[in-house]
Amino acid sequence: MNLAKLKLFALIGDPVEQSLSPAMHNAAFRALGLNCVYIALRVPKPMLADAIASVRGLGFAGLNVTTPHKIGIVSLLDELDESASLVGAVNTVKNNRGKLIGFNTDGEGAIRALQGEIGSVEGKEVVLLGAGGAARAIAFSLARAGARLTIVNRTVPKVRALASTIEQKLGINVGVASLGRTELTKALKNADVLINATSVGMYPKINKTLVRASMMHRGLVVYDIVYEPLRTKLLREARRASGKTIDGLGMLVHQGALAFEIWTGKRAPVKIMRAAAKRELRGESR
Ligand SMILES: NC(=O)c1ccc[n+]([C@@H]2O[C@H](COP(=O)([O-])OP(=O)(O)OC[C@H]3O[C@@H](n4cnc5c(N)ncnc54)[C@H](OP(=O)(O)O)[C@@H]3O)[C@@H](O)[C@H]2O)c1
Repeated sequence: MNLAKLKLFALIGDPVEQSLSPAMHNAAFRALGLNCVYIALRVPKPMLADAIASVRGLGFAGLNVTTPHKIGIVSLLDELDESASLVGAVNTVKNNRGKLIGFNTDGEGAIRALQGEIGSVEGKEVVLLGAGGAARAIAFSLARAGARLTIVNRTVPKVRALASTIEQKLGINVGVASLGRTELTKALKNADVLINATSVGMYPKINKTLVRASMMHRGLVVYDIVYEPLRTKLLREARRASGKTIDGLGMLVHQGALAFEIWTGKRAPVKIMRAAAKRELRGESR
């Protein structure tokens, strides 16, 4: 490693201590023999503007961005690519000779992981739980990929606003529903795929789920983007209902692989990234 010519990449967010991204990206840099390092930097919400000024000043080559900065960073960048401007949130930044360009790889990462398991989502009835940062990105990608989408969220005005933004920007109608049992059961009745993009079930509240086995049918594909833990309560319920399950590791790896390709222009070593993320997950004490 030539330390004088090192290219620096970082994850910024708060918290970042549990992140699998440093392990994943550093494994990829090593595998391709790139003189690059990826670190995690805790940036509290009020410090974001200072942090971005430092990224410019210190010449960081790229960033990943996580909670709570995905939306706040938008106005601090010089340019957004289409993925980020559609969703209105950024999870990846490339420093292009001093110009900071924002991207969003969450939606495409989630769809790649899903399509890797079930093939095309075109024409599939998909129920998406959530209207937060990750759900927004996934909703746009699903709508563009031709899925028939119903979005369900605890805060109903938020999900209505998301549906009308998708309609305005893409000209595609999506259904909306509340988390009330009757509405949710009705939405799930004809669903091919259920995706949880809420934080329900995430560590430490690992025994929570928004949907129980009794509300699922045989053959329903149940995809939980939560990856802490990988076997969430929702996925355990899906197994009981004889559904197919997909965990959150694939999305994590694919959104990271897409970011890697944006930064380096090289094909990401996806298998190596997945193995590194898995090792890191196993190594953590819970
Ligand atoms: N696998 C991956 O690569 C990947 C990538 C990104 C995120 N994630 C995971 O996805 C999850 C969501 O992340 P995010 O960034 O979208 O978070 P966020 O922007 O904070 O959104 C949280 C969502 O969860 C809902 N929610 C939270 N607590 C709830 C409860 N008790 N009951 C019902 N709904 C609840 C919120 O509903 P309201 O709108 O009503 O508040 C909102 O829709 C996190 O667990 C994160 O780790 C995974």
